[in-house]
Amino acid sequence: MHFNLKENILAALMLAENQYCSGRQLAEQFGVSRTAIWKVIDQLKEQGCFIDAATNKGYILREIPDIYSQLYMEELTKDLDANIYYYDEIDSTNRLAKELAGKNAPSGTVILAGKQTNGRGRLGKTFHSPEGGLYMSVIIRLNSSLTAMMRITACTAVAVHEALQEFGVTAKIKWVNDLFLHQKKICGILSEGSFHAELLKMEYSVIGIGINLHPDEHLPEELKPLVTDIETETGKKINRCQLAAAILHHLKHDLLNISQKTYLNTYTAYSCTLGHRVRMDNGTEGLALRFTDEAGLILRKDDGTEMCFTTGSAQILN
Ligand code: BTN
Repeated sequence: MHFNLKENILAALMLAENQYCSGRQLAEQFGVSRTAIWKVIDQLKEQGCFIDAATNKGYILREIPDIYSQLYMEELTKDLDANIYYYDEIDSTNRLAKELAGKNAPSGTVILAGKQTNGRGRLGKTFHSPEGGLYMSVIIRLNSSLTAMMRITACTAVAVHEALQEFGVTAKIKWVNDLFLHQKKICGILSEGSFHAELLKMEYSVIGIGINLHPDEHLPEELKPLVTDIETETGKKINRCQLAAAILHHLKHDLLNISQKTYLNTYTAYSCTLGHRVRMDNGTEGLALRFTDEAGLILRKDDGTEMCFTTGSAQILN
């Protein structure tokens, strides 16, 4: 296995959870000198890690930085049946996940990236994916019908909402699968997949999640009124490994219970669409009344009739 001393030391400090790690023990654990350890500690400090040193105690990490560590990620997800691949930079995690799924990669394969150069959004749009966000795709094989795809997507929005709650962030869910803070988007979800036409089943689904964690000084002007990030809105600097692991845990739990439809309670309770007048992308306007079991949106139009939308997007008018 590829051995990276810096990554190992960072993972050891993060896993120590606010306890000191002795320089001597770290040196013994990784088979290097104590000088090598403090050189790496210096490098980590230069990268922005708040590490204190105390005589006879060792090193302590004062705040978990938002730096990706494969070892830390593996530790946080060791109870999940997940194969996690990380790329500092990739064109699109969904693109790679689909490629791997086509080559029989198992359910629970996860692609994470620090940056995407060609992030994909819904309805053929691009998803702006600079360094500093969480970009993750998960391969899921549930042997499900096409309509269950809608549920899987809604379930994912709920899992992201629940994971963010663990960090004290309460995001709203905008139909069908965006998460919002203070009326601006912080997360988008894109479900793709391959449908087996003869069996009328999904061969696999790929769920892509993009979350804006930190301010982006290059955010395009046209996105500024629409898009924000968690740090700007809440002051919280969330570590991407912790958030990704929390999402994967909630997603597994929620997907296992998908047939009981309990996810719909959270989906409804934290909806910022219901109760508002909305305009659908085909121009239909009405009051967003409720969701179907498949997370379809039921509108009451001005003539009093109800209409159900299974996909698309809804612009909130008031
Ligand atoms: C949207 O809001 O339109 C959906 C955005 C989905 C973005 C995520 S980021 C990880 C994954 N890889 C992609 O290329 N897209 C999804």
